[in-house]
Amino acid sequence: MTSPRSRYRPGAAPDYSHRFHAGNIGDVWKHCVLVDVLERARAAGGAVVYVETHAGEGEYLLQSTGEWTEGIGRLWDDDTAAAGADPVARYVALCRRLAPGADRPTSYPGSPAFARAVLGAGATLALWERDAAAYGRLAVHVGAGRAVVCQAASPVAGAGSKLSSSEAVTGLKRAEEARADLAKTLGVPSASIVIDFFRATMWPDSRLGCAGEAPSPAGSVRGFLIQLSSGGKTYEFHSDATNRPRRCTAKG
Ligand SMILES: C[S@@+](CC[C@H](N)C(=O)[O-])C[C@H]1O[C@@H](n2cnc3c(N)ncnc32)[C@H](O)[C@@H]1O
Repeated sequence: MTSPRSRYRPGAAPDYSHRFHAGNIGDVWKHCVLVDVLERARAAGGAVVYVETHAGEGEYLLQSTGEWTEGIGRLWDDDTAAAGADPVARYVALCRRLAPGADRPTSYPGSPAFARAVLGAGATLALWERDAAAYGRLAVHVGAGRAVVCQAASPVAGAGSKLSSSEAVTGLKRAEEARADLAKTLGVPSASIVIDFFRATMWPDSRLGCAGEAPSPAGSVRGFLIQLSSGGKTYEFHSDATNRPRRCTAKG
């Protein structure tokens, strides 16, 4: 007799959708803590970069029944739960703000939506989501017009990973530098510029794919291709791993 093939075998197709579990008791525990941690990070001051490897969809529609009834459903119309100043009360109040509904919540925010709400429009969210459908909805719910970096594969170990986690953080730093430089050039606030994506790239030589002087003989250079957008236009920047990115208009 052969044993059934495990759904957890390496390389198995993804078969998990968080929409069936959104707002359940696990989400309540997880997001209570998340909101508290985010608030502390914001209160500490300075720029906050939120990095999440398993982002999900960012927002989930709730049917009239489901696991949520045992989670956020039990707190939704409990005014004492939302009245205090403790982390649970602040979480419930935020859920009510992000997921309106009269008698019951009609949707539930995912973790990236909590991050965006607490950290504000200027914070960078670096999000990864493997499932193509969830990734598409994530971009719609959390990404539109704001500084969000989405890639379809997690930077941590897993099928299709393109970036190591340290490279993801480096790429994000280079992308933020490109954003600051573009903001200065265009004379607009940095927060109005969207980081569409950054990708690890192997450039053929020290010109980093841009037109320029003769390349150094050192050969190929690993770095990043960064795309920003502002006012309906896109802007391409190229970088190596350590120096500020340069804006590239012509390829050499
Ligand atoms: C529990 S759900 C995410 C919930 C979300 N963090 C929240 O709290 O609202 C886990 C998500 O991780 C995604 N996922 C699983 N493996 C992944 C990988 N290696 N890289 C990126 N995303 C992955 C799944 O497609 C799924 O949408």
